[in-house]
Amino acid sequence: MSWASPDPHPVPDLPARTPAAKALLSAVALRRRRWLWALGSLGLAGAAGAAYTRFCEPGWLEVTHHVVPLRPTETKPIRILHLSDLHASACVPLEFISEAVRLGLAEKPDLICLTGDFITKHFADWNAYAAVLKPLAAAAPVFACLGNHDGGKWAARPAYGGHADHRAIRSCLAASGVKVLLNQSEEIRLRSRRVRLVGVGDLWGEELHAAEAFGASAAADLTLLLMHNPDGKDAVAGFRWDLALCGHTHGGQLRLPWLGTPFAPVRDHRFVAGLNRWRDRWIFTTRGVGNLHGLRFNCRPEVSLLTLN
Ligand SMILES: [Fe+2]
Repeated sequence: MSWASPDPHPVPDLPARTPAAKALLSAVALRRRRWLWALGSLGLAGAAGAAYTRFCEPGWLEVTHHVVPLRPTETKPIRILHLSDLHASACVPLEFISEAVRLGLAEKPDLICLTGDFITKHFADWNAYAAVLKPLAAAAPVFACLGNHDGGKWAARPAYGGHADHRAIRSCLAASGVKVLLNQSEEIRLRSRRVRLVGVGDLWGEELHAAEAFGASAAADLTLLLMHNPDGKDAVAGFRWDLALCGHTHGGQLRLPWLGTPFAPVRDHRFVAGLNRWRDRWIFTTRGVGNLHGLRFNCRPEVSLLTLN
C-alpha cells in the first residue's frame, strides 16, 4: 500500500493551445528576440564608438593640404605649415606633438605659423617642450600668437587653474626659436614677396588689441593674421589682411551626425573648420593637433599645409 500527501500547489491543467494562440505566442517571442538583438547591437555600437572616440581618433593625425587663391603672382607659391592647439597635457603627450612637428616638416614649408593653446592647464615640463618645438625654427621662420589656455585672465580663473600670465609659455617659445606676436606685427621676405605677419592677443582673454597689433599701415604684398579664435574677425575687420590663420575650435572636436559641431566654442559656426571666404578675404581654421578631455569623433587632429598662390 502506498500513501502520498496531497500536492499543496497543484498545477492547473492548461487548456490545449489553439493554432491561433500558438502563432500569437511565437510572434511575441520573435518580436522580443528582435528587440533584445537591437538593444544589444545598439549597446555594442555605443561601446565601440566610445572606445574609438577616446582611444583611436585623438591619436590619428591627418596632414591636409589647402590652396588659398590670393592675388596671382609670377613668383613661386608660398607654403605655410599651420599648427594650432597643441594642448600639451596628460591627454596630449609631447611625443604626439613631436610626431605632428615631424609630419609638418616633411612637407618642407617656407613659413610656419602656430596659433595658440600650446598647453591646457598648468604645465611644468618646459625644457622638454622647447626641445620638441625646436626643429620647427631650424627649418623655417616660425611665428605664433597665443590662445586662451596659454595663461592670463581667462586661464587663471580660480575654477580653471591655468597659468596667471604668459611668462612660462613665452620663455619656452623663445627657447625653441619661435617668435611670439602679441598684438605686434613683423615683415619678412618670402619668395620675393613682402609678407606681413600680424599676431593678435586672445579674444576670451580680453587681450585682442587690433589697433596696437596692426600699427601704422604697411605696404606689404601679403598680410597674414595670426588669431587664435576666429570669432575675433569682427574686431579686426577694419584692418587690411588677406588671410587669417585660426585655431581654438578643434574643428568642433566631436562632429556628430545631424547635429554638426554643437560643442565648438564659437558664436559663428561658419568658421569652425577649413578654408572659408569672409568678405574680401579668407579665414582658415585648423582642427588643431591636441584636444581637451582626450576625445575626438569624426574630426581628426590636423597638420595643415596651405599653399598661397
Ligand atoms: Fe584649444
